[in-house]
Amino acid sequence: MTVQVALLESWTEDDVAELAAVTVDCVDGGASVNFLRPMATQDAVAWWMSALSDPHALTWVARDDDGAIVGCVRLGLAQQPNGRHRGEVGKMLVHRRVRGRGAARALLEALESWAADHGRHRLVLDTETGSDAEQVYRRLGWTRVGDIPDFALTADGDLTSTTYYTKSLLTG
Ligand SMILES: CC(C)(COP(=O)(O)OP(=O)(O)OC[C@H]1O[C@@H](n2cnc3c(N)ncnc32)[C@H](O)[C@@H]1OP(=O)(O)O)[C@@H](O)C(=O)NCCC(=O)NCCS
Repeated sequence: MTVQVALLESWTEDDVAELAAVTVDCVDGGASVNFLRPMATQDAVAWWMSALSDPHALTWVARDDDGAIVGCVRLGLAQQPNGRHRGEVGKMLVHRRVRGRGAARALLEALESWAADHGRHRLVLDTETGSDAEQVYRRLGWTRVGDIPDFALTADGDLTSTTYYTKSLLTG
C-alpha cells in the first residue's frame, strides 16, 4: 500500500466520516489528542465538521490505494499581527492499520513545504510526554522545548505531562 498526501481544499461527507474514523481509532488506541475514550463517532464527526470550517486552519490527508483517508495533520495559522510567520501543528493522526509506512512523514513534509512557501517558518506542536509521537517528531527534525506537568488528560482521563516541540523552516 502506498499513501497519497494532499491538502484538503474541499471535502465530502465521506471525507468527514473517514477523518472521524481515523480519530476514533487513534483515541481507542490510547493517543492523547484532546479527546477521551471511548469516543463516539458522532462526536468525532461534529468535531471535524467544525474544524474543517475554520478559515484559519488547513488540513492535509493521507489516502490509501482505494482513496480512503487513513491519516491527517492540521496547521493552525496564527492570526496575531506579530505572529503571521507562525503555525501550530495538530491532529497528527494515522490509523493503526497503516502505521510505520511513512504516512506521518509524508503528511508533515507536505505541511512543512506549504508552510515554508507561505512564510509560516516557525512551527510549534505539543504531544504527550513519552508518547511514540515524541520519537517520531525527533526523528523528523523537531526540537524539544520543554514539558508542562499535568497539562492534559490521557485518553483514559489521568493527568499527564505535555511536551512542546518546535521547528524552524528558515534555511541558511
Ligand atoms: C505518531 C504517528 C502519527 C506516526 O505515524 P506513522 O505513519 O506510523 O509514522 P511514519 O511511518 O511516517 O514514521 C515517521 C518516522 O518516525 C519513525 N517512527 C515511527 N513510529 C515510531 C516509534 N513508535 N518509535 C520511534 N520511531 C518511530 C519512523 O521510523 C519514521 O522515520 P524514517 O522515515 O526515518 O524511517 C502515529 O503513531 C499515530 O497516529 N499515533 C497516535 C496519534 C498521536 O499520538 N498523534 C500525535 C499527536 S501529537
